[in-house]
Amino acid sequence: MLIDLTDRVVIVTGAGRGIGAALAERFALEGARVIGIDILEEDLKQVGQAITTAGAKWEALTVDVTQAAQITAATKAVAERYGRIDVLVNNAGVGADKPLDELTESEWDRCFNVNLKGLWLMSRSVMPIMKRQNAGRIINAASFAAIVPMAGVGAYAAAKAGVVQLTRALAGELGPWNITVNAYAPGMVPTDINHFTERSQEEQDRLLDMLTLRRWGAKEEVADLVCFLASDRAGYITGTVIDVSGGKLATQVPSAPYARRAAAA
Ligand SMILES: NC(=O)c1ccc[n+]([C@@H]2O[C@H](COP(=O)([O-])OP(=O)(O)OC[C@H]3O[C@@H](n4cnc5c(N)ncnc54)[C@H](O)[C@@H]3O)[C@@H](O)[C@H]2O)c1
Repeated sequence: MLIDLTDRVVIVTGAGRGIGAALAERFALEGARVIGIDILEEDLKQVGQAITTAGAKWEALTVDVTQAAQITAATKAVAERYGRIDVLVNNAGVGADKPLDELTESEWDRCFNVNLKGLWLMSRSVMPIMKRQNAGRIINAASFAAIVPMAGVGAYAAAKAGVVQLTRALAGELGPWNITVNAYAPGMVPTDINHFTERSQEEQDRLLDMLTLRRWGAKEEVADLVCFLASDRAGYITGTVIDVSGGKLATQVPSAPYARRAAAA
């Protein structure tokens, strides 16, 4: 199956590192013109270097997705420069790893402002452009936590559950303009948001025991899904949340078959 994204104008937020950087690189590889947005200027430069060295089209914009004025200026500039915006990937996100009785009000606000409000602000700013085109793709970072929350990370789970509902509501509002809106829910991909691979072996084993495919996810595996959702091949998919989690909690005790296999060996 060909995923041809040649010359598509694609905005990726949170492109400075982690999954967002992998998304930017993968879109560039597929021939898209990638506009990477982040608050981390230096990290964006490094991502851009890798992309432009490979001969692909890249532009970095230092934008905070919680700031409406910065967003409006950025998307206006992109639309004027390239004449269109085909894809918006709302990937920027932050954690809030604290029990709810320890979380401060400002930590709660940051979590909701980046993960949820930023996604709405970014989406709102591209909507008139995509409506004029009668085409577009908005793809949002949810999380497995939106499906099954984890105690101790409650604000994050609530914000990501909001992402799922916003995805569906946007899909409904934008359907008449042929704009699809979907969400991806990564499971456990080691990045700076979670530092999974830096934890004790015992803790890592406990986390891996929740997975049907008992291994960490790769950023590139998330990029495979997002590029597919952005392509013409996904034209009839909207309002969905697709989980890229190695089958996290697909069964009640996914580690049991691994123990059986080890015992039989
Ligand atoms: N890694 C996982 O296993 C996992 C699991 C579930 C969901 N996710 C989601 O995937 C997305 C990417 O996460 P990641 O693992 O790559 O984390 P990460 O921390 O490596 O990357 C997040 C990026 O978002 C950027 N960002 C944060 N606040 C911003 C703001 N105000 N404006 C612009 N950019 C901002 C950061 O600078 C960073 O580059 C996030 O939305 C995250 O919640 C990741």
